[in-house]
Amino acid sequence: MCNTEVFGWKFSKFIKNKNYDFNRDKILDVCGEDNVIDAYNLISSWQNYNPTPLVKLNKLSKKFNLNNIFYKDESKRFHLKSFKALGGAYAVQKITKGNKSITVATATAGNHGRSVSWGAQRLGLNCKIFISQYVSDARADVMRNLGADVIRVKGNYEASLKECIKQSKNNGWEIIQDVAWEGYEEVPKLTMAGYSVMIKEISNQTDQYITHVFLQAGVGGMASGVIAGIAKYFKRIPKIILVEPDTADCVLQSVEAGEMKKIDIKKESILGGMSCGEVSIVPWRILKHAVNNCISITDENIAQTIAMLKEKYFSDEPVIGGECATPGIISLIAATENKNIKDKLELNEKSNVLIMGCEGDADENLYKKLLNEGIKQLIL
Ligand SMILES: Cc1ncc(COP(=O)(O)O)c(C=O)c1O
Repeated sequence: MCNTEVFGWKFSKFIKNKNYDFNRDKILDVCGEDNVIDAYNLISSWQNYNPTPLVKLNKLSKKFNLNNIFYKDESKRFHLKSFKALGGAYAVQKITKGNKSITVATATAGNHGRSVSWGAQRLGLNCKIFISQYVSDARADVMRNLGADVIRVKGNYEASLKECIKQSKNNGWEIIQDVAWEGYEEVPKLTMAGYSVMIKEISNQTDQYITHVFLQAGVGGMASGVIAGIAKYFKRIPKIILVEPDTADCVLQSVEAGEMKKIDIKKESILGGMSCGEVSIVPWRILKHAVNNCISITDENIAQTIAMLKEKYFSDEPVIGGECATPGIISLIAATENKNIKDKLELNEKSNVLIMGCEGDADENLYKKLLNEGIKQLIL
């Protein structure tokens, strides 16, 4: 793609948070500043720990005349290929302290369960994973290969969580869930603290001040964990733009209303891990004031973005980014091609934008399918 061509990509909705008030202390209070400090110290001591690369999308920044676009490449996170490796596995270690008589349990759509299974395997603990009828066999096999006992439950994610809670109560298992509910907050706070490690790494990887961060959200755990990292480690607070599928924009609707809104998902997005109808209660305490803007997108440009990452349209090196790695790039392109929004966000030649490349080919079959689709679109 040459510099004069336009992508012509559109976002669905863009809003400003009227209640914006970024307060470092309050944010760190919600997540627990000690948790944030401990998460880095502990995770960086794990065997085979390496910071994931901070890739420069130099071709894309040149095209839009932005100073830098940094892409945090979580495809290289341990061997789990997703940022989720930082959350569940860390919470397993904190809650069990490696006590082998403890069995851990969780309900999952895939990546979180992989992290919990791996965390249990590392410490030699038994692990029970509850999945709904919609989770693929391939994802179930990955967790089995990490030593977990995988239990399939009829119905959706909610049904798998209900069954997980019931069986855990009956058997005395420790639930390691990334989503909070009334009276269950400690583990979700630990998983969020685990995600803040990405920002600690970035603070060591560049001395450029980040001016804008695009953050994907499902229930908001990743976004709020990253924001806790920003509150702790960044000297200057960047503009924070939260991205969701337009069919599951529960954070956008909540920010717009100034209170938590539960939404009905009428059509599931390809962004499976982000297709959530309700923001989790702990992340909400952070997101409601820390986010500057929310933006929503369709699934239309996902396959093409996956192909462009792989085929070096954006950077000098190929990047393996799965579906949930694309929303930051898609919304940045859509925002930058809209003069009004570009000006509102002050995206210009001084901007250093951070994009979270949340996952690689964590679901290999889906990745291959989307990559092939995207490549066809590039050739056309
Ligand atoms: C693979 C994957 N799953 C899930 C999510 C959503 O995370 P959370 O539910 O913590 O907002 C993301 C990113 O937003 C993701 O990349």
